[in-house]
Amino acid sequence: MDYVLRTNRLSKRYGGKAVVHNLHLNIRQGDIYGFLGQNGAGKTTTLRMLMGLIRPTEGEIELFGQELNRGRSKAAMERIGAIIEYPGFYLNLSAVENLDIHRRLMGMGNKEYIEEALSSVGLIDASNQKVKDYSLGMKQRLGIARALLHHPELLILDEPTNGLDPAGIKEIRQLFLNLARLRGITIMISSHLLSEVEQLATRVGIIHQGSLMEEIDYADLQRKTRHYLELRVDDDKKAAYLLEQKLGVSDYRVAGPGILHLYDFLEQSTKVNFTLTSEGVGVKEIRLSGDSLEDYFLKLTGGAPLA
Ligand SMILES: Nc1ncnc2c1ncn2[C@@H]1O[C@H](COP(=O)(O)OP(=O)(O)OP(=O)(O)O)[C@@H](O)[C@H]1O
Ligand SMILES: [Mg+2]
Repeated sequence: MDYVLRTNRLSKRYGGKAVVHNLHLNIRQGDIYGFLGQNGAGKTTTLRMLMGLIRPTEGEIELFGQELNRGRSKAAMERIGAIIEYPGFYLNLSAVENLDIHRRLMGMGNKEYIEEALSSVGLIDASNQKVKDYSLGMKQRLGIARALLHHPELLILDEPTNGLDPAGIKEIRQLFLNLARLRGITIMISSHLLSEVEQLATRVGIIHQGSLMEEIDYADLQRKTRHYLELRVDDDKKAAYLLEQKLGVSDYRVAGPGILHLYDFLEQSTKVNFTLTSEGVGVKEIRLSGDSLEDYFLKLTGGAPLA
């Protein structure tokens, strides 16, 4: 397994207060990693440590298989592009001029990269327009273009869709998918909204009050948050037997005494009921149940609203 970024016990304290606590993050090559948490959870602090903008109080960071000790290797940092908090631009200059200043600051020789970066975020037609005339969505995309300028392998973006309308969010989502699929770039994005990384993330890390509550592949998260029929019966063994024999069900579990969770036949509760009752099983209740992704996220983060 190729890990692009890993942390071990990564922690940050401010004045004795643990803002980030013992994080173990594991981001693989090609992941779109959604780093999720409420306001104040510690996302920006974590990303700032990853980028070397602040020093961890404890713990280690490994980038591209190499541990970063005190000094970070320039070579490793050159493989990362990032936007942490709001990208600042010279508003009276055009997009091209802004990127050119950045290119020179970064010591990159290649001017063609500017056009390429602007094209990849869909801003080529507005490249000579002053940034002050850009919409918020265009500015966000320009920030991404700047982070992409030196052809990084890993993009770290702090709330890249903050403040965008649904259409803008959709556009940026498509941009990330293209960067990941077509160019193989690994992407880490933080967000306080699960819905923003849905249909995008391949892996999700959920941080709450500085601690990682869960790190999980998106497909597993989806499996965990499936809907099911909850059956309350007087004889769970007989009910299970009948479900298997009469309906060919294998996707179920006994969730407690007299309680079965059935992941099939969600739309056919009448048929399930009939199958059981006609063979003498008492059915007290059948209802559709299960956490939605959002419910699950809310439970992990203490039930407080996220937005
Ligand atoms: N320099 C600092 N000194 C003291 N406390 C800090 C400092 N930076 C951040 N904090 C505190 O650390 C906690 C986490 O902040 P952080 O900015 O990392 O959260 P976040 O998850 O990015 O939140 P948001 O969604 O609002 O951006 C907050 O309680 C914040 O007040
Ligand atoms: Mg933040």
